Amino acid sequence: MDKGSPQQSAISTAAIFGASGGIGRALAETLRQRGVHVWAGSRSTPDTKLSGAAAFRFDLTDENSIKAAAGQMRDNPPQLVIAATGILTLADGTGPERSYRKLDPQTMMEVIQLNTVGPAIIAKHMLPLLPRNSRSIFAALSARVGSITDNGLGGWHSYRASKAALNMLLKNFAIELGRTHKQAIIAGLHPGTVDSELSRPFQSNLPDGQLSRPGDAASQLLDVLDGLTPADSGRIFAYDGQRIAP
Ligand SMILES: NC(=O)c1ccc[n+]([C@@H]2O[C@H](COP(=O)([O-])OP(=O)(O)OC[C@H]3O[C@@H](n4cnc5c(N)ncnc54)[C@H](OP(=O)(O)O)[C@@H]3O)[C@@H](O)[C@H]2O)c1
Repeated sequence: MDKGSPQQSAISTAAIFGASGGIGRALAETLRQRGVHVWAGSRSTPDTKLSGAAAFRFDLTDENSIKAAAGQMRDNPPQLVIAATGILTLADGTGPERSYRKLDPQTMMEVIQLNTVGPAIIAKHMLPLLPRNSRSIFAALSARVGSITDNGLGGWHSYRASKAALNMLLKNFAIELGRTHKQAIIAGLHPGTVDSELSRPFQSNLPDGQLSRPGDAASQLLDVLDGLTPADSGRIFAYDGQRIAP
């Protein structure tokens, strides 16, 4: 994070894509608690427990649903958009590959469609709603394992590649949007290892204290976003504010 005076959040309206997920739901709830109007998007039935949020439906694999969601928000557009979706284990139970021998074209395409193409299409339809002359943020949940520099272990081929490609797109969008929206920030976020459906199959060997609660991760991520400046646009940050090398 660029040092300097932390930005006070000028966010009155936010949109969370993936509000049914472990982290997405916690982000939506935390924003509501902070007095922010929340557009809460999921592909399943809108969650009535998220009181006060305006529910919308979308599917990452259906561009029209994302376009329609953006259209719904046109009258009360968000200054903060978070793509909190993502996949590690596919719906049919296929887990991340440990070896190149396990690569399957169909699996690779599905992971990249959900983790890379989906958030990019959310950006395509949501970036035009961001204000031109005031602070705005588009963030996507990425992962530290998407860092090529940080990759010491290998494995999880499709997931790592999908997040590395997402990080590249976020950088590209930051450059493009920065030409017209001087106060806009585009950021990738690593939430830490968070207790959710996504991490559940991989929690057994974690050192004590490494697994965080979704609510704690959400608060940390929102605080990180609050402290970013336009000079940070295009970068990836962890939950503790540390910048992650691409
Ligand atoms: N949890 C961790 O430890 C961890 C660590 C590093 C990075 N991350 C990243 O954080 C993000 C969120 O993870 P999480 O832990 O909150 O996972 P999660 O609880 O499994 O939530 C995933 C979300 O993605 C949504 N989604 C999946 N496919 C979709 C589709 N086709 N259309 C619309 N929505 C779809 C799910 O919707 P449904 O409810 O409809 O399935 C759900 O809302 C992911 O990008 C993940 O890579 C998580």
